[in-house]
Amino acid sequence: MAKSRTVFACAACGAGQPKWAGRCPSCGEWNSLHEEQFVATPASHAAHEPAQRVADVDLAAYAPTPTGVDELDRVLGGGLVPGSVTLVGGEPGIGKSTLLLQAVQAIAGSGTACLYVSAEESKQQVRVRAERLGALADGLWLASDTSLAAIEHHVDTVAPSVVVIDSIQTVHDPELSSAPGTVAQVRQCAHRLVGLAKRRGLIMIAVGHVTKDGGLAGPRVLEHVVDTVVELEGDRQHGLRLLRAVKHRFGSTEGLGLFEMTEAGMRSVPDPSAVFLADRRPGVPGSVVVPTLDGRRPLVVELQALAAGSGLPTPRRSAQGADGGRLALLLAVLERRVGLSLSAHDVYATVIGGVRVHEPAADLGLALAVVSSLTDRPVPEGTVVIGEVGLGGEVRQVANLSRRLAEAARLGFTTALVPDGAVVDTAPMALRRVSHLAEVVDQLGLVALPRAA
Ligand code: TYD
Ligand code: MG
Repeated sequence: MAKSRTVFACAACGAGQPKWAGRCPSCGEWNSLHEEQFVATPASHAAHEPAQRVADVDLAAYAPTPTGVDELDRVLGGGLVPGSVTLVGGEPGIGKSTLLLQAVQAIAGSGTACLYVSAEESKQQVRVRAERLGALADGLWLASDTSLAAIEHHVDTVAPSVVVIDSIQTVHDPELSSAPGTVAQVRQCAHRLVGLAKRRGLIMIAVGHVTKDGGLAGPRVLEHVVDTVVELEGDRQHGLRLLRAVKHRFGSTEGLGLFEMTEAGMRSVPDPSAVFLADRRPGVPGSVVVPTLDGRRPLVVELQALAAGSGLPTPRRSAQGADGGRLALLLAVLERRVGLSLSAHDVYATVIGGVRVHEPAADLGLALAVVSSLTDRPVPEGTVVIGEVGLGGEVRQVANLSRRLAEAARLGFTTALVPDGAVVDTAPMALRRVSHLAEVVDQLGLVALPRAA
């Protein structure tokens, strides 16, 4: 007989505590402990698969199945692996359901049976959306259910190869006393679904909502039980959506997928740099082009800064898409190491296109955008800027320089400002080596009139 006892589980980190407390002793979150019945299941003595010699382990079943959505396949390293469970995280409304419906439409279109279980929307709602996204595929089955038993039943009757659960937080097991969405429920349902996927060699994809602070709602535990976690993010004001793997048992987590949310669903963007630079007007002061790297994928983006006279006692500093702390640091370096006075200016910095650039390799670009705006002189045409800036104003090395240069050259840029001493085998463009921020400002003829005393 299974023994039951009471535990207090944290909704944020999933850790169980024997006693209630106002603050979770494991993760420090306030007011997150909820009472739950913990049922210890007796150890199973069912037959286990025998151990095998490493060389005898069969890899054939491990080949990924392409989803037909190019950018999704890129992030997954080729596609989805049978018997694996993938969690797709993201804020509400960002496009998770749309992306997965597109993927199963494409897979079902090639003759593979797919089951899409919507625990949030009705079958009618899903059908309307499926029609908007393309022709209705024969092999696509819909179910609208929230109970775990019903989902298991649908899997038995449809016998699909691919199952989508949208979303894991709304699925519940009526046999457990706790409410849907609680840690106990999500954990239990996730374990049962993972078991189902492994037993039947199914490809399972589950949607998981994320909380305001960006964590997968409630259960961190989810991340441990699944094989792959991908996250969809983007700026609601822009159509751009970025897809990243944060955990991937079958490949690298360095892939980045880019989509544009359109009337007809998520459209893969194979050449994001060209999109980011499409509306760029050359010769505008305050604009600098920076080859950044997201994972392994190079993205050439435009940074813009605007320095405008301020009437405020404390001038305003604002960074959109760039790191505000980094901007403040660079402004301090410009004051102290280059001798520019910025205390009477509001400074706004933005990354065009709705991407976020937080890597230090963009420092030099950001600093030059500010100087260029302040002095009203454009950075020379055809130039890209790469370098981290230290507190002394020195320009420091960045990783993967060759990949950045190659992407910029592909887009037609002809000159790159790079850290002095950067090692490049064969540069695809002219390199201007620089060692200090002040020297760059001089070299580019950006020497400012408003020098500090
Ligand atoms: P959705 O996939 O429902 O988001 P999630 O599942 O992550 O909550 O997408 C929601 C938004 O996407 C919604 O505001 C409408 C928009 N959308 C489009 O712009 N084009 C489309 O073709 C579809 C289906 C949705
Ligand atoms: Mg949804």
